[in-house]
Amino acid sequence: MTHKTIRQALTACCLLLPAVSFAQQAPKGPVVIQGAMPIEAEHFAQRLDNPKEEQIGGWRFWSGTIDGYPVVVSETLKGMSNSAAATAIAATHFHPAAIINQGTAGGHDPALKVYDIVLGKYSVNLGAFKTPHKLKGEGSDSREWKPMDLLASKGSAGEDKNAHTMRQFPADAQLLAVANSVSKTYSKGKVVEGVIGSADIWDSELDRISFFHNTYNTSAEEMETASAAQIAAAFNIPFVGIRILSNNITNDGKYDPQTGLACQDYVYQVVKAYIAKVQK
Ligand code: 5AD
Repeated sequence: MTHKTIRQALTACCLLLPAVSFAQQAPKGPVVIQGAMPIEAEHFAQRLDNPKEEQIGGWRFWSGTIDGYPVVVSETLKGMSNSAAATAIAATHFHPAAIINQGTAGGHDPALKVYDIVLGKYSVNLGAFKTPHKLKGEGSDSREWKPMDLLASKGSAGEDKNAHTMRQFPADAQLLAVANSVSKTYSKGKVVEGVIGSADIWDSELDRISFFHNTYNTSAEEMETASAAQIAAAFNIPFVGIRILSNNITNDGKYDPQTGLACQDYVYQVVKAYIAKVQK
């Protein structure tokens, strides 16, 4: 080795060393598991090692560990505003490495049965639309409404004549892959990738449901995922939504609240697989 190559090797070492030791010392951000209702969060919280419960504003969080890795369970409460706020609090308070929003949903796809699980390759906001202009007495048909992009901050939304495509909030590719990787462990139904539609609405009109399914490709609807996904993206936090069908009126699938427990059991497997991967 010449002096020059030794010097080059030493410089490379010195440049690399701080990066390596930083990676080892960097605090591990927790995985945050969100569930809207007590029945969608408490079951998971009970599986944490050394759980510590705290209340921040109107929201409950349980911090603990799984396989030695930090995990926070967050009860977001119901609906878009609650889940946005709970996600922002989780982001600033816990600095998560990843967020998984999970719970129950209603089927839009007649091929899906109660207990089937949808891994959200993306989610959409089914409550953000512009109506066409109609005169008094001309009525209202929500199937004529066009998507409104809430992230387009310029211009007046109502007067904006541009046709917006539906905004899609994508899942993090690694989280989606990990969520898929444990599908063989699930015996209560199918596990599929799909589109989760969210709004502060419970739809029971079959024509409206099939309109959403045909137009926006929705597999299921619920009230939180797209909102949490939007806020997680604003904080650059990897995100995935995982939803179990608790009801599906497109094929007479009767509501079963026990599905919420099965979803948490599935997500527990996802979290263990995620932790095994990041701890390698
Ligand atoms: N439509 C809307 N929300 C649903 N949920 C389960 N099924 C549906 C459905 N068909 C979930 C929502 C909310 C609670 C009412 O249950 O996410 O948290």
